[in-house]
Amino acid sequence: MTNSSPPPPKGLRWHLREATQDLHAEADRLAGRFALDARDGYAAFLRAHALAIPGLEAACAAALGAEWPDWPARARTGALKADLATLGHPAPAPLPPPALGREAALGAAYVLEGSRLGGALMLRQVQAAADPVLHRATAYLAHRPQGDTWPGFVTRLERALPGPEGWAAAAEGARHAFAHMLAALRLPPAPNPETHPETHPETHPAGAPPRAAAAHV
Ligand code: HEM
Repeated sequence: MTNSSPPPPKGLRWHLREATQDLHAEADRLAGRFALDARDGYAAFLRAHALAIPGLEAACAAALGAEWPDWPARARTGALKADLATLGHPAPAPLPPPALGREAALGAAYVLEGSRLGGALMLRQVQAAADPVLHRATAYLAHRPQGDTWPGFVTRLERALPGPEGWAAAAEGARHAFAHMLAALRLPPAPNPETHPETHPETHPAGAPPRAAAAHV
């Protein structure tokens, strides 16, 4: 006898997870290129995130700020800058923020918040490094919004889009957010400012734009 019971209902989180799993695998693969236990490798990792995270945070704040007034407490741009400064690196000029409507911004928020889960694993690698300077540069990976957890975020996300009508737009926003992250992760690392101060590209002359963000995927 075959089991004819219907499959369990799936919420937005599972829809987004399925819609982005290929891109998550690519992010995971690219992240593996950074030696998180060495100053240059870890600085390159932080720099790649500092290229991508500010634009995504700004796009989500613009689209969701009125609905989620506590959104700014989730921002990690300041933590990234502080960690880079601890390692002696200036923060790069971020990639331009993508334009996201409400549903797409909810998908991008899922990517931003979900990236904390992998970050917890990476934090352990940094904390296991022999270099104590690295241990002082973990504000980004250790950042947690007060009083909120991943399950709490997922509950809010699913309440914000309870029916499937907006899920395709949310999935598109999530894929766009992953593409933004992947574009930054693929850029070549900047030279170490301590060994190549004259060629360091972070000192963008005013008006010199950073490279364009990823194409839509
Ligand atoms: C740009 C980098 C990354 C982004 C944007 C990202 C994004 C996400 C997202 C959106 C989720 C939630 C998936 C879900 O709904 O369960 C997630 C979960 C997770 N990520 Fe990542 N991730 C990134 C890198 C990584 C890396 C490098 C690792 C491995 C070290 C990793 C490990 C994980 C793990 C273990 C989970 C939890 C999966 C689960 O609970 O089933 N992530 N990540």
